[in-house]
Amino acid sequence: MSQIKIENLHFSYRPQEEILKGLNLTIDERSTAIIGQNGAGKTTFVKLLKGLLRPTEGRILLGDTDIAGLTAAKLAGRIGMVFQNPNDQIFKNTVIDEVMFGPLQIGMSRQEAEESARRAIASAGLGGMERKNPYDLGLSVRKLIAIASILAMNTETVIFDEPTIAQDYAGRERIKEIMRSLRREGRGVVTIIHDMDFVAEVFERVIVFAEGRVLADGTAKEVFADTEVLRKAYLEQPSVTRLGRELGYEGVFLKVEEMAALFAKKAERK
Ligand SMILES: Nc1ncnc2c1ncn2[C@@H]1O[C@H](COP(=O)(O)OP(=O)(O)O)[C@@H](O)[C@H]1O
Ligand SMILES: [Mg+2]
Repeated sequence: MSQIKIENLHFSYRPQEEILKGLNLTIDERSTAIIGQNGAGKTTFVKLLKGLLRPTEGRILLGDTDIAGLTAAKLAGRIGMVFQNPNDQIFKNTVIDEVMFGPLQIGMSRQEAEESARRAIASAGLGGMERKNPYDLGLSVRKLIAIASILAMNTETVIFDEPTIAQDYAGRERIKEIMRSLRREGRGVVTIIHDMDFVAEVFERVIVFAEGRVLADGTAKEVFADTEVLRKAYLEQPSVTRLGRELGYEGVFLKVEEMAALFAKKAERK
């Protein structure tokens, strides 16, 4: 993936009401979570990355190119975005047509588009549903269809806006696996998410937004250790981190396995 460089980014929907107040950061190959209170500007920010909104000041570079100079189709071929609400994205009557739409739109042949769509449908765990009507399926499945439609475009970066809402355990695990495999392929993953347990398990980098600014930017361990930042951003620690703290441990646990390993070691010493 090319890095995405954000320089002095400001944005307002209305004059006198600035939503993003001068962001400077670079999105790189690390899988990245964006967290923060409702209204912090997270969705607005990713819409700017995707070229759906234009900065009121500052610029966004994809590699060396200002995205303001790229056509919508060109940008769509490089950055994919899964909307928070799949109903904003889905409009075809079969899963296969829905998932093929994006690939066709960015210029794949029918055959390429179909192959890519079938692969994406399988990786979203929806194999066998190609002929179903998305409107007959539940919200959690529609979200996975929306994910498959974006995966099928093979963009170098994929943005997810609240992918785990309405997902059960199996859906969450599926989404984790999708993100990990994108990462293994060297593709960018940027995810807005409220589920701190998911953040702790999956992401290498965590960016905290508060009131249109970046309040913190670091590893999950760094961010979840900073109780002052979390307090300011109205965020809580992941469950296993809280449990470790309640039990009186100094360290910041991010995964159940880490804590289990520590207990196992202690038991051995006895
Ligand atoms: N289309 C819009 N027109 C005007 N204001 C908007 C629009 N979309 C979002 N906002 C406002 O921008 C702020 C940031 O919203 P948003 O980017 O959706 O935050 P988040 O995704 O962090 O919850 C909020 O105050 C919201 O009300
Ligand atoms: Mg949002």
